[in-house]
Amino acid sequence: MKRSRADEFPGDMTARQTKDAYSMLPTLGLDWAFLRPVKTSDLARWLTYLQGDAVRQGISWRPQRVDELEEFVNAASFEEGARQLRFAIALQSDDSLIGTVGLHSIVRDHRSAEIAYDIHPTHWGRGLASAACEAVTHWARTKGLFRIQATALEDNKASIRVLERCGFKQEGVLRGYRWVDGAARTSLVFSNVPGDA
Ligand SMILES: CC(C)(COP(=O)(O)OP(=O)(O)OC[C@H]1O[C@@H](n2cnc3c(N)ncnc32)[C@H](O)[C@@H]1OP(=O)(O)O)[C@@H](O)C(=O)NCCC(=O)NCCS
Repeated sequence: MKRSRADEFPGDMTARQTKDAYSMLPTLGLDWAFLRPVKTSDLARWLTYLQGDAVRQGISWRPQRVDELEEFVNAASFEEGARQLRFAIALQSDDSLIGTVGLHSIVRDHRSAEIAYDIHPTHWGRGLASAACEAVTHWARTKGLFRIQATALEDNKASIRVLERCGFKQEGVLRGYRWVDGAARTSLVFSNVPGDA
């Protein structure tokens, strides 16, 4: 049976997450994985793969501690005016966290936000990030957002492919956009607006 409701995840949600967040979840559309709020018990596992070489290569974020992640996922709900929201991607079979996807830089006045995602390397190449990107992009539209932006380091071919599959269009090159491990890195900027896919 599919797990998707608050009652099935008692106890250890991060501090400000409420049952309301569950009723608004995007639907992943896969039978082996689903989206749910991030739980406190997920954070150590998330930090471990974020700090692994495979994932580090793709991202410019360098979290050091679990409490940094907790702060990051603490936005309670879209309706409460959060500027960022992150969902866990969990395995249907045992509820373990195998990725995350979310929005940050949400600017309500301009109906815009930026999408971000990461997948545990064990589950790369199964279409998970593409499904998550599509689900969250469509969900964001139901929340009234118009422009969904994404940036990817210029050599992050897998992420660029995910965005293309998800109907994002490349708009430009952001030279030296991220400072990563002591050096400036160039990113590509993409967007998805209604009608793109
Ligand atoms: C980027 C990432 C999220 C992709 O996750 P995933 O679940 O493996 O993605 P999908 O399976 O949905 O699709 C990956 C696509 O990229 C392609 N791809 C993978 N590696 C590639 C590479 N080195 N060069 C070109 N394409 C590549 C796959 O073939 C697939 O495209 P296809 O279905 O047309 O064949 C994952 O690699 C990851 O977590 N990387 C580290 C974190 C990260 O980079 N996050 C994004 C920051 S912008």
